[in-house]
Amino acid sequence: MTLKPRMSVRAKISAVGTYVPPKLLTNADLEKMVATSDQWIQERTGIRERHIAGKGVATSDLATEAARVCLRNRGIEATEVEAILVGTVTPDMFFPATACLVQDRLGAKGAWGFDLSAACSGFIYALQVGAKLIESGAHRKVMVIGADVMSSILDYTDRTTCILFGDGAGAVLLEPCEEGEVGLIDFVHEIDGSGGQSLYMPGGGSLHPTSPETIAERMHYVHQEGGAVFKTAVRKMAELSEAVLERNDLTGAEVDCFIPHQANRRIITATAERLAMPEERVVINIGEYGNTTGATIPLAMATAMEDGRLQKGKLVLLASFGGGYTIGATLLRWEF
Ligand code: UT7
Repeated sequence: MTLKPRMSVRAKISAVGTYVPPKLLTNADLEKMVATSDQWIQERTGIRERHIAGKGVATSDLATEAARVCLRNRGIEATEVEAILVGTVTPDMFFPATACLVQDRLGAKGAWGFDLSAACSGFIYALQVGAKLIESGAHRKVMVIGADVMSSILDYTDRTTCILFGDGAGAVLLEPCEEGEVGLIDFVHEIDGSGGQSLYMPGGGSLHPTSPETIAERMHYVHQEGGAVFKTAVRKMAELSEAVLERNDLTGAEVDCFIPHQANRRIITATAERLAMPEERVVINIGEYGNTTGATIPLAMATAMEDGRLQKGKLVLLASFGGGYTIGATLLRWEF
């Protein structure tokens, strides 16, 4: 388990920005594409609709828009950003990194950065890496983005996966805390590669480079053993959340706002129940976005800001679970 960080400088989130493409894919649309029903999707997942990028729109486009909104909300210029970290499993291409494309389009001259691949935990893993750049004193403004165009790797003939995911992006700015502020407090992360083949995209990498065979075998799409992922997600998100709470002498009941990865409404409510988290403190917006992989947590932050649940001083718990497996829990005070 990760050790409790010792920090003289702390990092805080100082602004949030999100972007989803305008085009909607509803459950009624999916009924026309695969053998499914609005009722099944809503009952089993909580999803009503998801946003889908148009042809030619890539992850860097969504990420750049989210970053622009974030900068506008903070009231600073792109040239003030010193590093850009992008959590994504659907980069525009293998290289250059999405972070480079975003840097150029934003006009963040002088910044450095990279992409981080941790599937649905990409955003909170990047958040911790970004926080370390602030805590070390190396930087004062780091942009952390979670963005994915999941529609680019979905098999729209496979009803077990295509109904789950959507496209979107969310960005936060990290800065050092001011006097008296707390910001990011602690995190517990874990990866478990033994779960790798329960949720993955087998083709297109160095093991199975794209070929007519990999395409014929549909290896360029997401493959998932839904039941296995479901059970592990609930158990591990609760376990790591409990671990980070316990070592900070807190219980789930003391958390003001729980922002979990949005993969399935039933996973969220089962996790929240294990943590004895009151329902009204659990942020759920999967109905309107589906599972946007790297973007779910910043999108849920924006939802909680809009509905008033995220305000300065609130104690916030983030939790994620994704392909890999990758699992994470982060504790912070909201500081704006
Ligand atoms: O982002 C992180 C990773 N992803 C997740 O966390 C996702 C985790 N898994 C899940 O959310 C759920 O397992 C699913 C939503 C994928 C599936 O729900 P489930 O309740 O576990 O269903 P199931 O796989 O046990 O399937 C139950 C039945 C099956 O039919 P039979 O064999 O009982 O006749 C499936 O074929 O539901 C069928 N089914 C569907 N029916 C209508 C599966 N997908 C669909 C569908 N529409 N889209």
